[in-house]
Amino acid sequence: MPASPTGTPWVVLKFGGTSVSQRHRWDTIGRLASKRAAGDDVRVLVVVSALSGVTNELTAIAAGAGDSAARVDALVARHREFAVQLGLDPDRVLAERLDALRELARDPRAAAQALDWQAEVLAQGELLSSTLGVAYLAAQGLDIGWLDARDWLDAIELPNQSAWSRRLSVSCRREADDAWRARLAAQPTRLLLTQGFIARHGDGGTAVLGRGGSDTSAALFGGLLHARCVEIWTDVPGMFTANPREVPDARLLTRLDYAEAQEIATTGAKVLHPRSLGPCRVSGVPMAILDTERPDLPGTRIDGDASPVPGVKAISRRNGIVLVSMETVGMWQSVGFMADIFERFRRHGLSVDLIGTAETNVTVSLDPSENLVSTDVLARLSEDLAQICRVKVIAPCAAITLVGRGMRSLLHRLSDVWATFGQERVHLISQSSNDLNLTFVIDEADADGLLPELHAELIGSGAMPVADGDVFGPSWREIQHGRPQRAPAWWQGARERLLGLAAVGTPAYAYHLPTVRERACALLAVAAVDRRFYAIKANPHPAILRTLAEEGFGLECVSQGELEHVFASVPGIDPARVLFTPSFAPRAEYEAAFAHGVTVTLDNLEALSRWPDIFRGRDLWLRVDLGRGDGHHAKVVTGGAASKFGLALASVDAFADAARALDARITGIHAHLGSGIGQPRHWREVYAELAAIADGIGTVDTIDIGGGLTIPYKPEDAPFDVVAWAEGLAEIKAAWPRYRLAIEPGRYLVAEAGVLLARVTQVVEKLGVRRVGLDAGMNALMRPALYDAWHGIHNLSRHDAPADMACDVVGPICESSDVFGTGRRLPAATAEGDVVLLADAGAYGFAMANTYNLRELPREEVLE
Ligand code: LLP
Repeated sequence: MPASPTGTPWVVLKFGGTSVSQRHRWDTIGRLASKRAAGDDVRVLVVVSALSGVTNELTAIAAGAGDSAARVDALVARHREFAVQLGLDPDRVLAERLDALRELARDPRAAAQALDWQAEVLAQGELLSSTLGVAYLAAQGLDIGWLDARDWLDAIELPNQSAWSRRLSVSCRREADDAWRARLAAQPTRLLLTQGFIARHGDGGTAVLGRGGSDTSAALFGGLLHARCVEIWTDVPGMFTANPREVPDARLLTRLDYAEAQEIATTGAKVLHPRSLGPCRVSGVPMAILDTERPDLPGTRIDGDASPVPGVKAISRRNGIVLVSMETVGMWQSVGFMADIFERFRRHGLSVDLIGTAETNVTVSLDPSENLVSTDVLARLSEDLAQICRVKVIAPCAAITLVGRGMRSLLHRLSDVWATFGQERVHLISQSSNDLNLTFVIDEADADGLLPELHAELIGSGAMPVADGDVFGPSWREIQHGRPQRAPAWWQGARERLLGLAAVGTPAYAYHLPTVRERACALLAVAAVDRRFYAIKANPHPAILRTLAEEGFGLECVSQGELEHVFASVPGIDPARVLFTPSFAPRAEYEAAFAHGVTVTLDNLEALSRWPDIFRGRDLWLRVDLGRGDGHHAKVVTGGAASKFGLALASVDAFADAARALDARITGIHAHLGSGIGQPRHWREVYAELAAIADGIGTVDTIDIGGGLTIPYKPEDAPFDVVAWAEGLAEIKAAWPRYRLAIEPGRYLVAEAGVLLARVTQVVEKLGVRRVGLDAGMNALMRPALYDAWHGIHNLSRHDAPADMACDVVGPICESSDVFGTGRRLPAATAEGDVVLLADAGAYGFAMANTYNLRELPREEVLE
């Protein structure tokens, strides 16, 4: 192949240790390199790491490990074996390199572990892998050349660098002249392969780049060549919104700018070394992180022109953080106090990461991985600091960082985050001056389980203004297991009927009774459950009440209005199947409930003592607060100190005594700790705690574990795992078999059965934001305005057109919270008069609708 002209653009591909350690992966490398070179007129430079594990072995040898000879032998054997696996003759391909490795082990410089010798030892891994790789690819018919990276990357010396870092953690020159570029362009093959991690030292010897070296090499080549792109091929799909091992719902970040990527890499993500961004950033070369095993995934693209929309894009956690808190009254307005204390940190070689200050206290964090904190250093530092202030070392702590652009303009969106941290002891809050991160330092033990919660609140909820599809790719869970397989929603097959209903008038709710029956059957199949009540507040439509009553469900009411409605809608229903669970209801409602003969639940001692006549001699259920709550949003959490519901555990004995004094019997014990809970184990834990309380009371026969089962509102949400839920209940019930188990779900039974139909009123573009207005607003469906809840939004009139226009979907109410969704996708042709469907609106939809702005209530229709 003729040499390409100097001006031919380059693409740099980098492959890490795991990507070069298996034959089939080298086939992928060959395929990817050829594909890149085949397209337009592009040349490809492949940068490779050492085989996985090899650099660790070489590091041990360079450090003078006692068994160096055996380690060298093992390395020789490993590379020879791999050559054979690649179908190569090890003697012909590797002899020279392996001799060099053995020679180094015998080198006189080894005894003193001279730095230049160490660098040469460390460089062998990449020299070996690249030699094998080029031989293999050439044998497969690729026209590919081998370069010694040391002929192209020059180490430079920086001020204040130690001799060690000048050799073993070098920085390289970031500018190249035309002669350099022409020399590379003059290489005879269009594909070239070279080593990561190694460079030429100023004295002509070898130098290495240190941690993250291969990524940095690729970025350096990319920068020097003004490459079209630097692709980092690795064994994960890219950067995620959180560590997927801790948060399986973490989303792939498909688009970041350099500063955001740098911040994410610095605060936790291991995918890309933070050092490697610099060279591409200064020359404006885009980077991409891609998965060698799954090359079709979008990966993470990093460049300078990602959208500047503010938003939290990632949540990271660093463990092992050490805090030093320094207290003194003397520091107030005293000049030079900070200088004094920082001087002492400097003296002990410790660099400070985060800082919080108060009038009499300064607290700083040290990052152990950077500061090599040993207990000894800390003790000496403390001693030293004790001369000027009171010192307290707080460790181990965890730093939880929210990363994203424009953090300051987002504070109002972080209310859930403040609420979550409000339950922890926060030692330090720090906001970076580049407005890219907000960090909370808490005890390491408190951090467990926090990330999934924060992730759900910030990123899972779609609360951020960033346009979802452009930034957040598929979730880790989806990538591992594929999208949760879900049957198409009922309304997808009922489009014509729904358009017919909409023609009569909008807004209108439509309820699909077969779906209600289907959900009821799923719960009827759970054998551990003895009594099932439907929480009618979710949707009290008479047809739904009758349907569920026919299926065997009892009905749970929270007001006299609901009670009267139940008896009117389901004539002849046995009052024993009706439950009354009010909150702060007036006295008369309890009287009415007893008059109806229904089961009454009480959740406070005051009612019992103030209205003894109402409860005397009665059977009662007691609702308790187990001291914690859960739910899809802070506003639907119904347990814990901040919640008005339930009797505190500390008052249970007093309640039981008071009931006994009135000759009232506590026959049921109940807890409902929140709504929209996805973790099946929640209810088994509730059962276990309630059973222990019931054992103590002695008269209880029924344990009611409440409702709260969630449904999958978003396409990527997994459906509620009824099987796991049933298994957990069966297990726990086997431990306490003498109680009857009752449940009282609302949402699960009806949410998916209902849709809200609305008509487009106007499509308006303002300052770059397109808004689709509907004749239904937050008065018709309050959930998005109240809880930032997510409902699928579909244009029924243009069902088959691709949803290719990003827009906000809004209502006609005079409130800025009248927004059903932001950054949603609808067909570009969406226009006045189209019928839009809001999905999964069967629960807490019409039930919470109102006539605000004197807009009429939606109509309701029932489909059989
Ligand atoms: N039991 C009691 C005592 C309740 O307070 C509730 C709901 C339920 C059962 C039924 O919970 P479910 O299974 O539907 O989650 N408007 C909010 C939900 C408020 C739930 C109030 N209590 C929403 O739209 O998400």
